[in-house]
Amino acid sequence: MSTLNKDQSDYWNGEVGQRWAIHHRALDTAFAPFTEVLFDRAALAPGARVLDIGCGAGDTALIAARQVGRDGHVTAADLSEPLLAVGRERAAREAPGAAAIEWLRADAQDHAFGSRFDHALSRFGVMFFEDSVAAFANIRRSLAPGGRLTFLCWRSMAENDWVMVPRAAVLPLLPEVEPPQPGAPGPFRFAEPNTAVPILEAAGFRAIDCEPLNRAMCLGDTPEAAASFATTRGPIARLLRECDGAVQEAALKSITDLFADQFGGGPVSLGAACWLFSART
Ligand SMILES: C[S@@+](CC[C@H](N)C(=O)[O-])C[C@H]1O[C@@H](n2cnc3c(N)ncnc32)[C@H](O)[C@@H]1O
Repeated sequence: MSTLNKDQSDYWNGEVGQRWAIHHRALDTAFAPFTEVLFDRAALAPGARVLDIGCGAGDTALIAARQVGRDGHVTAADLSEPLLAVGRERAAREAPGAAAIEWLRADAQDHAFGSRFDHALSRFGVMFFEDSVAAFANIRRSLAPGGRLTFLCWRSMAENDWVMVPRAAVLPLLPEVEPPQPGAPGPFRFAEPNTAVPILEAAGFRAIDCEPLNRAMCLGDTPEAAASFATTRGPIARLLRECDGAVQEAALKSITDLFADQFGGGPVSLGAACWLFSART
């Protein structure tokens, strides 16, 4: 596999990938309101050939395989072997009668897929490329003439309470946090549409559309489960990764207490804001 995105490959094959693999059900539940809109917009036809970019533990690849049926085909591509392993195992159990799924360890930025897909889609898997123009040009080349691209990415951190609320609880425990470098790979890479649109145009896509989506995202059924989600996956987990155990424990307690104050003992749902992008070859 190419080493163009070696840092991301190390990140998603290491402890973070393992955590996402273990907690994949909770992530799928949290993302479900967005997943529904992604597939409404994609409107996959029976028999379609689909590429899932950064497929993670396979939720969206499995949905695509059910929708396109036995005459279709899904290629589920990801850098992360621990996440692909979960996908393979789920497919055997959860998708009888669906399209065949090829689980492919590949860097979507430069893997030679061939021009064979009717549809490329992604749920939060396209914000981590070192060279986004090269990556989207490669994805465009993977599409047959008339092929379509549909993906979800996060709007700004400030618009995402599921990050901002627990973040406010942990910032007092941390040394000063550096803002991310503009243009660096990361969850908020395409927070501004005027970043992604020129990149998609330069990659050769046309009929580019982006729609804002706001949904409540359930981080867990209890404050404890939701605090565990916030500290082990996503942007807060990234902040805490380099901290020592005492700070991590204090962060978990601080977020748990905050959620308990706001939500009592029940489910923790916070606002989440995304873009739904679509484009054509
Ligand atoms: C935020 S996770 C989303 C996973 C999955 N789509 C989901 O919604 O659960 C991002 C995923 O993109 C993958 N990824 C990042 N850069 C990639 C690249 N260059 N090529 C393929 N996959 C990549 C990561 O390994 C990770 O599984």
